[in-house]
Amino acid sequence: MDEVTNLNQRFAIHGHLSFEAGEDGLLMANVQNMHAQAEIMLQGAHILTYQPADDAPLIWLSPKAKYIPGKAVRGGVPICWPWFGNYESGNPETDKNFPAHGIARTAMWEVIDSEKLPNGATRITFALLIDEAAAKLWPHPCALHYIVTVGRDLIIELVTHNTGSSPFTITEALHTYFVIGDIDAVQVSGLEGCAYIDKVDGFKRKTEPEKVKVTSEVDRVYLNTAEDCVIEDHKLRRNILVTKSGSDSTVVWNPWAEKAAQMADMGEGSYRGMLCVESANAAENAVTIAPGHHHSMRVVYAMQRG
Ligand code: BG6
Repeated sequence: MDEVTNLNQRFAIHGHLSFEAGEDGLLMANVQNMHAQAEIMLQGAHILTYQPADDAPLIWLSPKAKYIPGKAVRGGVPICWPWFGNYESGNPETDKNFPAHGIARTAMWEVIDSEKLPNGATRITFALLIDEAAAKLWPHPCALHYIVTVGRDLIIELVTHNTGSSPFTITEALHTYFVIGDIDAVQVSGLEGCAYIDKVDGFKRKTEPEKVKVTSEVDRVYLNTAEDCVIEDHKLRRNILVTKSGSDSTVVWNPWAEKAAQMADMGEGSYRGMLCVESANAAENAVTIAPGHHHSMRVVYAMQRG
């Protein structure tokens, strides 16, 4: 039996969920229910699209995205785990064996459960498959589960279990690309007064005086930010509410024109229509998990019309 047939037999739900082979044979979970539709690629458990019924898409996917086995896709919700950015305890600049943003976004995941909820939403649970090559980079016994609930809101939870006998430390991020009307018409609230690491200014430590506005390349790790934040979009006349738990950092990223032009998978001018607001645990907000324990990072993305 081929994999698509097997997945459909075990996990498809009539009127909610089906599986197919997408571009380059990459396996896709397609969700369509009364609230929303979403596409999730099994490589990376990567949410590519999410769109509430009768509304505009919430998640941005690059018009030039490439779907290549073992490569990260530009857009959607890449999972950065068990390290965010470059591997911090190695020598990231010289050791290119450690891929940026960890091993989870390019690895294969398996579906371990699917269900329709009483409120009409659809829930799928994925588990990361750590192959031999990945285990060399991350030799800690663990299990990683990803629970995606597609409803009127998009709810995602990343749970790291320490199944070994020693503690380990992770950094992580849900590297979500949001659709925005235009970068000039957007600001992010909830980070005012927070300290951040400015990655485009030599990792200097700074404090955010006001709501975040993006007028040039922005790559910032806001620290100790457990609070929710809001992407206020004056052009699309909507707010995207990011409510989270188990996440003490927030990353805001937009490559701006010059850097975007160097990226083959961005598309000309498309940086103006996207903004990454990433719920994360990074830098000193790294999380240490004791043997037999787990850590959960959970976010809810909700659209509010203004
Ligand atoms: C952000 C990082 O989260 O992701 C940036 O802070 C990085 O430094 C960006 O450039 C995109 O990363 P990648 O590996 O998907 O191109």
